[in-house]
Amino acid sequence: MFPIHRYRRLRSNPVIRKMVRETSVSPDDFIYPLFVTCGKGIRKEISSMPGCYQESLDQLAINAKEVYSLGIPSVILFGIPENKDELGTGAYAEDGIVQQAIKVIKDAVPELYVITDVCLCEYTSHGHCGVVAKGDVDNDKTLSLLSLEAVSHAKAGADMVAPSDMMDGRVAAIRAALDQEGFAGTPIMAYAAKYASAFYGPFREAAESTPQFGDRRSYQMDPANRREALKEAAMDIAEGADIVMVKPALAYLDIISDVRNTFNLPVAAYNVSGEYSLVKAAAQLGWIDEERAMMEILTSIRRAGADLILTYFAKEAAKILG
Ligand code: PBG
Repeated sequence: MFPIHRYRRLRSNPVIRKMVRETSVSPDDFIYPLFVTCGKGIRKEISSMPGCYQESLDQLAINAKEVYSLGIPSVILFGIPENKDELGTGAYAEDGIVQQAIKVIKDAVPELYVITDVCLCEYTSHGHCGVVAKGDVDNDKTLSLLSLEAVSHAKAGADMVAPSDMMDGRVAAIRAALDQEGFAGTPIMAYAAKYASAFYGPFREAAESTPQFGDRRSYQMDPANRREALKEAAMDIAEGADIVMVKPALAYLDIISDVRNTFNLPVAAYNVSGEYSLVKAAAQLGWIDEERAMMEILTSIRRAGADLILTYFAKEAAKILG
């Protein structure tokens, strides 16, 4: 091939590099996670996630406006309720913290597309993602509560719901409940391949959702499994998912690629808390160029095949991308 072919020719300056670039990242692809808490005037930085906050409703409205003004079209909401109980009743209360947050955001920025995380772990006293019976999460008992939660989010004005619990059959249950309550037009983004990952550590501080006993390995996927992710995605799609998500993103780029190449639905990837914190920590120590690492990570997730990226970097990246 050489010297006829010289690949360096198309790398020689920024203009030609940009012209032949295969992958792009745009703020249009971003979904920004927000943590809403009770009270007033609260904007508490999450120590393991610099630049991310637990915010009360008033502060959330301000943040939502900023998010939208940066060109980010969408947010996903996580709630920290005042009280937790065995059945996570705060998750499906009409005046629950997320239900209130949806209304506040829709009042402040009607154009912002509001997605809600549908799960019980932030609301249960034991911190598991479902109803605990005999020391384990009872799959089928959990489905009706998740359905109640999804419907209550839709009633409060959510544009899309995103179940993250990993119970079997929850997409079908939620779809049926939404349809029955008059929300046939509300899409479901399923956390289809969600792994039992150490990279959720900082999030659990943020959402105060660390399990009080055991772990989530009896419902979240084993990090070693690749084919199983396709089974999970296929099942969620068969049950009516509109978008399938892979989570985490970075240690699972192969899974994103597999899901992209196997199904013709939009694919989302969750660039999770631990992936964010690693970059922030290394940057604070002066060990890494934060901006370049961030953009390289986001590009890699798009290159692997994700259409949408849930990321704590959304605001910083949007500022750079303009
Ligand atoms: C709720 C949920 C979790 C995350 C999103 N939804 C935590 C978990 O499953 O333990 C993690 C997000 C992140 O780490 O950024 N089930």
